[in-house]
Amino acid sequence: MLTAEFPQSRLRRNRQNPWCRDLVAENHLSVKDLILPLFVREKEVTPEIEAMPGIYRYSLDELLPVCKRAMDLGIGAVALFPYTNPILKCEEGKEALNPHNLVCQAIRIIKESLPQLGVIVDVALDPYTSHGHDGVLRKGCVANDETLEILIEMALVKARAGADVVAPSDMMDGRIGAIRKGLDQAGYQNVRIIAYSAKYASAFYGPFRQALGSLSALGKADKKTYQMDPANSREAMREAAQDLLEGADMLMVKPGLPYLDIIYRLKESFLLPIFAYQVSGEYSTLKAAGEKGWIDYEKALLESLVALKRAGASAIFCYPALEVATFLLGENV
Ligand code: PBG
Repeated sequence: MLTAEFPQSRLRRNRQNPWCRDLVAENHLSVKDLILPLFVREKEVTPEIEAMPGIYRYSLDELLPVCKRAMDLGIGAVALFPYTNPILKCEEGKEALNPHNLVCQAIRIIKESLPQLGVIVDVALDPYTSHGHDGVLRKGCVANDETLEILIEMALVKARAGADVVAPSDMMDGRIGAIRKGLDQAGYQNVRIIAYSAKYASAFYGPFRQALGSLSALGKADKKTYQMDPANSREAMREAAQDLLEGADMLMVKPGLPYLDIIYRLKESFLLPIFAYQVSGEYSTLKAAGEKGWIDYEKALLESLVALKRAGASAIFCYPALEVATFLLGENV
């Protein structure tokens, strides 16, 4: 790589003014990069999520206004996550397959009124199981192949409701191929799959589990027999390679900021778009430190997001996406 030496070269020259810094910026964060995750609730459930101040659960009649607002700001897609009534949860997570469950109703409502808004849905059993795991338990273990059969059905139920994209976050082996085949056989060739290829067993998911009510279900158990070990990166390449061969349309890395190296490696090695998920605990730590006055929340948030882009993410799941959009677009929105 050719670079001149000081004093011919002065790297500070390009940093002198905002216009010049903008011109030489290698990455830009845009509202078009953002996906807005939305928690959906039944009317009786409280909107506030204690561990995620500023983020709310929406009832079905509150969904359209927030989706409309997202679209007006230029956000292209939402990702739906349900807070399931505990009485509807069971060992097998049967409510996942109910075509009238909360998420299916939400998809229909959004697609009917705002067909141009992308709707992404999760495929995993944890919002529906009484034990909080992403699959069914057999002799205390999450049973991979039996879970696959249910996940195929779950993806189909959501495709029938009108979902544009399914995002299996369950980390079962073979799920992408199984779901792709199931969708294709039912005529849903155009439903896309975001593979959560590198999903780590992370402590940063705590606030999300509280938002969904799956924290108490899971109790002291963890998901280390299916989610990845944070110590591994070569293994992420194997996961991604498998998902690619099984028909994934996009690959996702989750969490985001602690795993920039994974985003970078996947981007370098695979030609698929890479998405990043700025997870609940990333949001909550920034928010809490900001509320205490220890960091500048807005600046730290924008810095984390552009770092995800720099690492190679083309889109980012981001809880405060609406707020970020107003930061990016300025006061007049
Ligand atoms: C569940 C799922 C999780 C998240 C998204 N889908 C949690 C988990 O695996 O326990 C976490 C998202 C977040 O923390 O923001 N399959």
